[in-house]
Amino acid sequence: MNGKNQKAAAALQRACAGLKVVTEPSVLESHGRDWTRFRAPRPAAVAFPESVSQVQQLVAAAAAAEIALVPSGGRTGLSGGAVAADGEVVVSFDRMRRVLDFNRVDRTLTVEAGVVTATVQERAAAEGLYYPVSFAAEGSSQIGGNIATNAGGIRVLRYGLTRDQVAGLKVVTGRGEVLECNRGLIKNASGYDLRHLFTGSEGTLGLIVEATLRLTDPPPPSKVLLLGVDSMDALMKVFATLRARLDLSAFEFFTDRALHHVRVGQGLPPPLDASCPLYVIVELDCPTEWQEEAAMDCFESCAERGWLLDGVISQSDRQIAELWRYREGISESISHFPPYKNDLSVTVSRVPEFLRRMDRLIGEICPEFEVVWYGHIGDGNLHMNILKPADLGLETFESRCHEISERTYALTRDIGGSISAEHGIGLLKQPWLDRVRSAEEIGFMRGIKQVFDPAGIFNPGKLL
Ligand code: MLT
Ligand code: ZN
Repeated sequence: MNGKNQKAAAALQRACAGLKVVTEPSVLESHGRDWTRFRAPRPAAVAFPESVSQVQQLVAAAAAAEIALVPSGGRTGLSGGAVAADGEVVVSFDRMRRVLDFNRVDRTLTVEAGVVTATVQERAAAEGLYYPVSFAAEGSSQIGGNIATNAGGIRVLRYGLTRDQVAGLKVVTGRGEVLECNRGLIKNASGYDLRHLFTGSEGTLGLIVEATLRLTDPPPPSKVLLLGVDSMDALMKVFATLRARLDLSAFEFFTDRALHHVRVGQGLPPPLDASCPLYVIVELDCPTEWQEEAAMDCFESCAERGWLLDGVISQSDRQIAELWRYREGISESISHFPPYKNDLSVTVSRVPEFLRRMDRLIGEICPEFEVVWYGHIGDGNLHMNILKPADLGLETFESRCHEISERTYALTRDIGGSISAEHGIGLLKQPWLDRVRSAEEIGFMRGIKQVFDPAGIFNPGKLL
């Protein structure tokens, strides 16, 4: 640790009695990064507040001493939003993990920011209710981070994003005030809804310390279909057919390359007899035999029209979990390359055009790289992962990927899409924000940051 960093850590420790501040190299290494691998962690220290008032003290001390703070949750982010690569102090919410309140009438759960997503799901289930946000990292990601990035996942098609579940937020701003936004209300027409400003702000406006989450009815018993198709056009026709007749809660896709990696990574057998270029995982409500028959009808009519090559329907809860592994295990199975991640979104109707044009572009500009596609196609969110060849250095690979990004993002913009759907802009996509947001929009964003974080201490270099 250099002298400046030592001073920063000591200043915080002095100003905040009882605050745990750690400078052990192993903790700096583990808490100074998220799941991205393109920047080395170099935080000055990691602070572990235990209460809202400790967070307030910490923010006030950091603002006075001009110490940059990087909020950190479960560190499962994929855009470098929680990376501290420049002597910042990481604010970890690992010690703020209390479930504060369950309200049966309001159907809300109030939790501290460090509560793990899966804990919220489990607590909701224990109360006979349901928290619908779900994704592969839910076993370690934290609610504060989910809200800061407006996390999506596999059930956006039915339930929307994290934003749609947030009924209230408690936030510590850069001025050290505590803001209570919306306080769990369903209706509140009393001016600007600051809750939505903090949701998705990637830790640049304030520190989310508590959240009140909406719970809902548990879904009825479901079935999962894993289908093989031979083209994107066929896939979209299958989607339209199933969506018109069945109650879908998820519609996800992956390519044959993604299947190859998840099978190798997780030791899985082939899911279908036929090898197909594209695969779909569909989850649907199936409370009675009638729905299952309707699903089989749809399956047969899609097969008769030549849109489906093969398919399987789950026969048990165990098989549902097994089929989901083919989709949910992909990200982890390619993480060692590492992949250069692009989290793109377009309107659902333009997905086939977008993927056709992307295929052509990739063939032109980077035929030497393996590109693995998967994602939440039912909501227009496509994950494009460029895998690093073993013989290419990380820096050279990243700079080649930046050239590819220029063309990819120009195409995405042309088609009216976004360069981040659910992973956030963070550190890694920040240079391209202006490809999808106008100068005026970015100007307003900077103005808003100035209001909430006048000293500029929250997550500098991220997003803006
Ligand atoms: C997923 O959909 O699997 C997650 O967003 C993680 C990823 O994109 O790799
Ligand atoms: Zn995703």
